[in-house]
Amino acid sequence: MMDGAGAPRRERVRFNDVSVQNQRLRDELDAAMRAVIEDGRFELGQEVYEFEEAFAAYCGTRFGVSVHSGTAALHLALRALGIGEGDEVVTVANSDLSTVAAVRFAGARPVLVDIDPHSLTMDPAALAAAITPRTRAVLPVHMYGRPADMEPILAVARAHGLRVVEDAAIATGAMYHGRKVGGLGDAGCFSFAPGKVLGAFGWGGMITTNDPELARRARMLRAYGEDPAAYPPPAAGFRFAGLHPEVMGWNLRMDTIQAAVLLVKLRHLETMIAERRAIATRYRRGLAGAAVWLPDDPPGIRHVYRNVVVRVRGRDAVRRALYEDGIATGTHYIPPTHLTPAFSDLGYARGSLPRTEEVARELLTLPVYPGLPEEDVDLVADRLRRAVETVAAG
Ligand SMILES: Cc1ncc(COP(=O)(O)O)c(C=O)c1O
Repeated sequence: MMDGAGAPRRERVRFNDVSVQNQRLRDELDAAMRAVIEDGRFELGQEVYEFEEAFAAYCGTRFGVSVHSGTAALHLALRALGIGEGDEVVTVANSDLSTVAAVRFAGARPVLVDIDPHSLTMDPAALAAAITPRTRAVLPVHMYGRPADMEPILAVARAHGLRVVEDAAIATGAMYHGRKVGGLGDAGCFSFAPGKVLGAFGWGGMITTNDPELARRARMLRAYGEDPAAYPPPAAGFRFAGLHPEVMGWNLRMDTIQAAVLLVKLRHLETMIAERRAIATRYRRGLAGAAVWLPDDPPGIRHVYRNVVVRVRGRDAVRRALYEDGIATGTHYIPPTHLTPAFSDLGYARGSLPRTEEVARELLTLPVYPGLPEEDVDLVADRLRRAVETVAAG
């Protein structure tokens, strides 16, 4: 949601341009899609299973269950863990609305806690303070591509017998002390929407896990509740099976054509992540000494920079000045969920999550995508520095 928000009229620097990576990979993508069209298996074709296996291997988990979107991954992971009515799930408000929406889709109550203002991810102390006898799970978000501080979060979860579902929707490939996100908790949930770190030509998502029962249940829930043994991968041969839904499920499967695209892009993911990280480093250099807060890049953490976010005083005026200069920026994800009309009934008044709200007043998302020219990064840094100085003076 909200990609490319505020695109200027005369756009000099695009916020996110996926056409660059698509052009680079054009021959491979064309061939992969043609193969699906010729095979004709648009529903749960072989590529779906191949992508699940390849993605799970990439994340270092035993299983990957592909689904329709990141939202579906969160929703079904919670349901597959048996979380629902009467349960509380602790998460954050500085995320896409879908994080909290997914908790509601599962039937549980979202409990929102504040963030650490340096990492912009869940504050483990706030998590510990929010636990009640109804708490069943914790849902940290690897925000902007940086892993949440999982060690203390997992310690709190273990102490209270909670399940841990990672929202890794915008953090594909991020690492926490040598391990990829998605394999740190009970389940990892990824989005492959076009503008993500690994993006399809439409919607897509994945649940990663080491738990065979969770994977089995997620496979059932994504396809009407059907036993996954009823539709084995095409390579396993033809099998006749009737309809025997074990539970009520949904229709939230990944299209074969998206799996084919993602299989191609997965082969180039490490290069694309390296490009994102190089852009962040260049911004950091270009903005050294400016009155701009930039995220740090601590040892032991691999931030994949789905977004490069900065914090600036007078954010809206700074953003307007960049707009006038032809530079597209974003405000991800503002307002925080608890301050949106859709979630006002959660009962979190303004002021209830002070650090989240303070960050939201200053946050600005800068252009970043594989293929963003270095001179554009330098231009953005230069114009941002000037805009911040002008706004501070005025
Ligand atoms: C943090 C976060 N979680 C979940 C999602 C939902 O993913 P999808 O749009 O694929 O449903 C998003 C999408 O932007 C996201 O940013």
